[in-house]
Amino acid sequence: MKHPREAPIGVFDSGVGGLTVLKALAAQLPRERFVYLGDTARLPYGTKSPETVARYALQAAERLAQYGVKCLVVACNTASAVGLAVVSERIRDVPVIGVIEPGAEAACQASRSGHIAVIATEGTVRGGAYQDAIVRRRSDARVSAVPAQLFVALAEEGLCAGPIAQGIARHYLEPLFDSRARSSRPDTLVLGCTHFPMLADTIRTVAGPDVSIVDSAETTARYVRRTLEAGSLAAESGEGSLRLMATDAPERFARIGGRFLERPIRPHEVELVDL
Ligand code: DGL
Repeated sequence: MKHPREAPIGVFDSGVGGLTVLKALAAQLPRERFVYLGDTARLPYGTKSPETVARYALQAAERLAQYGVKCLVVACNTASAVGLAVVSERIRDVPVIGVIEPGAEAACQASRSGHIAVIATEGTVRGGAYQDAIVRRRSDARVSAVPAQLFVALAEEGLCAGPIAQGIARHYLEPLFDSRARSSRPDTLVLGCTHFPMLADTIRTVAGPDVSIVDSAETTARYVRRTLEAGSLAAESGEGSLRLMATDAPERFARIGGRFLERPIRPHEVELVDL
């Protein structure tokens, strides 16, 4: 099947978190048409078993494939960690891009010492995909991966700064970055979850100014752009557009998603779909 440059790019996540990836994609690729699906009915993916997440990811991917997408972005770290292989096997005629490999690549480039910390959901840490992707690229790397599940709730509640966010950031990050000799601390920290860029300022205050913070949303967006350009698939004209879909509670998606996308989303912009 031929996918013209004008075809949309499909993006999916368990909910609103992937809007941080979408924002980065739209900044890199302003002419593109995006179709975004948030599986809000089954959120969170981060605490579910790999089999369940892979099944959900496949259903979301197949739904997006119905829109004739020219590229599919798995904008959820957990779904990328445990479901990318199964999705790529099923959706064979377009590039399927997850967030883990681009994030691991950027971390390996940023780290001087090779000691890299990854914070992510339980499912992403347990699946070991970031650890594998980093060590595959840098055999000298040492990876400290820590689940930081409460950051997901904080980001959705809009509690990204202030004493509560600071306290939780210290809980997760101080064992990694505090009270260790500078030489044994990670010099790079991967934000391995869609929600964590929302807390980047708070995370930085705990990790310290000398730590390189890798946002997998940014690095994935650059990777998608390069992939489209290499395959002569990038849109050459047009103003870009966005179609939003959610599997539950469009009003909540709009309310919370607006913060993630950094522009207001009106509830009627969000289509309710069933997978
Ligand atoms: N989107 C998920 C991720 O990046 C976080 C939210 C969830 O657990 O579903 O891993």
